[in-house]
Amino acid sequence: MKVSPSILTCDFARMADAVALVEQSGADWLHLDVMDGIFVPNLSFGPPVIRSLRPLTALPFDVHLMMQHPERLIDAFANAGADIINFHLECDAPILETISHIRALGKTPALTIKPNTPADAVFPYLDWVDMVLVMTVEPGFGGQSFMADMLPKVTAIKQECAKRGLQVTVELDGGVGAKNADLCAAAGADVVVMGSAVFNAEDPKALVAAVQAL
Ligand code: DX5
Ligand code: ZN
Repeated sequence: MKVSPSILTCDFARMADAVALVEQSGADWLHLDVMDGIFVPNLSFGPPVIRSLRPLTALPFDVHLMMQHPERLIDAFANAGADIINFHLECDAPILETISHIRALGKTPALTIKPNTPADAVFPYLDWVDMVLVMTVEPGFGGQSFMADMLPKVTAIKQECAKRGLQVTVELDGGVGAKNADLCAAAGADVVVMGSAVFNAEDPKALVAAVQAL
């Protein structure tokens, strides 16, 4: 599996150090959690911060938009350096239009579902997205407990894709760590986000390598 560490739980006064830690961990992507304080009860950062981090690493920016109206800032995030743009099926944006908008900018469109949203809610969009991000916590905060009952969604999405001959990456996000990464791999996940697990790890490099080997 690929690993996409989230810097949400880092010291925001030392974000460059957090990017360096992710880079040195050997991770595949860098997960950036954008929160608008409306779609989720938390507020994090936006395009100016992403723009500042962009020159620090060549790692793909896996940007997770927890926003009511992500469609209003797709250009801004793309110009700031986002590579993969994840937005929520539950938001107020026009889904297919927003997917096309992301792709027209040469970026990778990904659709995200909250715990209460069933896997088949994304089935109508599987022809149009490159990735589905399945939340294994209620979005809004890092450091929450992993919701293992979300894992069947991964399998359901993968089975639907196999049936339709589609190649869609599935990423899991929330509460993933050494104790449950094997369950994620067994369910068929291609990528896992790890925030607090990486930033609290004695040896982030060893943790990332162990999960990548699953
Ligand atoms: C939660 C975010 C997650 C979170 C992951 O709303 O989308 O990416 O930061 O952090 P951990 O791995 O600590 O749950
Ligand atoms: Zn996230």
